[in-house]
Amino acid sequence: MTKLEKNICKFTKIFSVNSERESFSSTFGIIVATAGSAIGLGNIWRFPYVTGENGGGAFLLIYLLFVFGIGVPVMLSEMIIGRKAGANALGAFKKLVPGSLWWLIGLMGVVAAFIILAFYSTVAGWTLHYVSLSLSGNLFADDYAAQFENFKNSNISPVIWHIVFMILTCAIVIAGVKKGIEKYTKILMPLLVLFIILICVRSITLPGASKGLSFLFSPDFSKLSGNSILAALGQAFFSLSIGMGTIITYASYIRKKENLLKISSSVAVADFLVAILAGIMIFPAVFAFNYEPASGPGLVFITLPRIFEQIPAGEIFAVIFFLLLTIAALTSSISVLEVVVAFFIEELKIKRRSATISAGIAITILGLFCTLSWSNLKNIYINVGSSTEMGETKQMFFFDMMEFTAANVLLPLGGLLIVIFVGWILKKNSAVNELSSEGTITSKFFNALFFIIKFIAPVAIAFVFLNGIGLIGDW
Ligand code: PHE
Repeated sequence: MTKLEKNICKFTKIFSVNSERESFSSTFGIIVATAGSAIGLGNIWRFPYVTGENGGGAFLLIYLLFVFGIGVPVMLSEMIIGRKAGANALGAFKKLVPGSLWWLIGLMGVVAAFIILAFYSTVAGWTLHYVSLSLSGNLFADDYAAQFENFKNSNISPVIWHIVFMILTCAIVIAGVKKGIEKYTKILMPLLVLFIILICVRSITLPGASKGLSFLFSPDFSKLSGNSILAALGQAFFSLSIGMGTIITYASYIRKKENLLKISSSVAVADFLVAILAGIMIFPAVFAFNYEPASGPGLVFITLPRIFEQIPAGEIFAVIFFLLLTIAALTSSISVLEVVVAFFIEELKIKRRSATISAGIAITILGLFCTLSWSNLKNIYINVGSSTEMGETKQMFFFDMMEFTAANVLLPLGGLLIVIFVGWILKKNSAVNELSSEGTITSKFFNALFFIIKFIAPVAIAFVFLNGIGLIGDW
């Protein structure tokens, strides 16, 4: 056994529990695991940069509307499917309507999982690089944009960190230790939130910070286009881990008596709050330091080190922060990989170990294309109109194409099909029966929720999607 293998074993043993298909033993446990999947780079890396690119306040308001008005109903629909069927994302549809083609939704989820993990592990690799920069005392620099660009545009370091992150994700999924991780998640995630709050305090007390707060909180609806409304929907889906079967898979482990509405709304509230905190952490600093809010995927990596510079013992603070962020990314990446692995195991009858290793290798290779988007593959790009005020064109590299396809196309389409499935195929009795845990839980919201699932959510998603890709006219 090589040293690396030994270390991986040690790492997985820390979290070691058995890998049987069991039920979560407490409501709190389910909330922690689901929130662990939801809260990750989507909140801390993606939310601030997408909000920055789409003009701030108005985008945030639409995002809020989508998280609770559409996200929660979609999440509930996934929970209804998953708990009812007790199977993986693809098998669940086969079980609920045998002989139909609805399982294709599950297959689309598996494809989405491949794509998401490919670019997700690239960004998680960047986070690991920042752990190592801070650990080695090299975090502080004169020009953080140049520091980030040089790193991102090279073709060795990002590749190595991407591979390291994929190995960690695979190691945890092989050991089947999601429930062991729960124990650590419940301590580490609140700690991450505490760190974010401390950074927020530093950020909003910087001279000139108030411009950042007004950017985030005063809506200017003239900045919204069909495109940015679709971006808000995509971000809501990405951040809540919905539209691709993650929640179907997790819900298959939820006991019958649990209150699905309570679980989904708690997760959505937690996820939303962490995103808002990330916004309050980033934007005041962005304006105080004269950065461009529409800097793109590098936004948090160029802003955070400059805030750490202004905090006593900032480099130690940075090590802990980036480590916690990596762990938050891991609790999300395992839930993405689990969608593929559960499919390989249950449908293709492959053992967990080989399933994880083969999926892991395939995703790592796809991820290499993302990682190398700005170096070896920088000639692969499409020019798109920019959403910044200047209206200049910007280039969409391979990485951006993967991100766009997953978040703005596959997840909304998956979500659309999922609500149509619950609203029109499962039918009201069956869905409400599952929602009410066979009549043991009553809520005056159930009828309204079913109405949203059946009519409002599908129409809204379809409209936002078609408008966002330009198939129906601008408003
Ligand atoms: N929700 C995760 C995050 O915010 C990412 C994710 C997307 C996880 C889709 C699972 C499924 O980081």
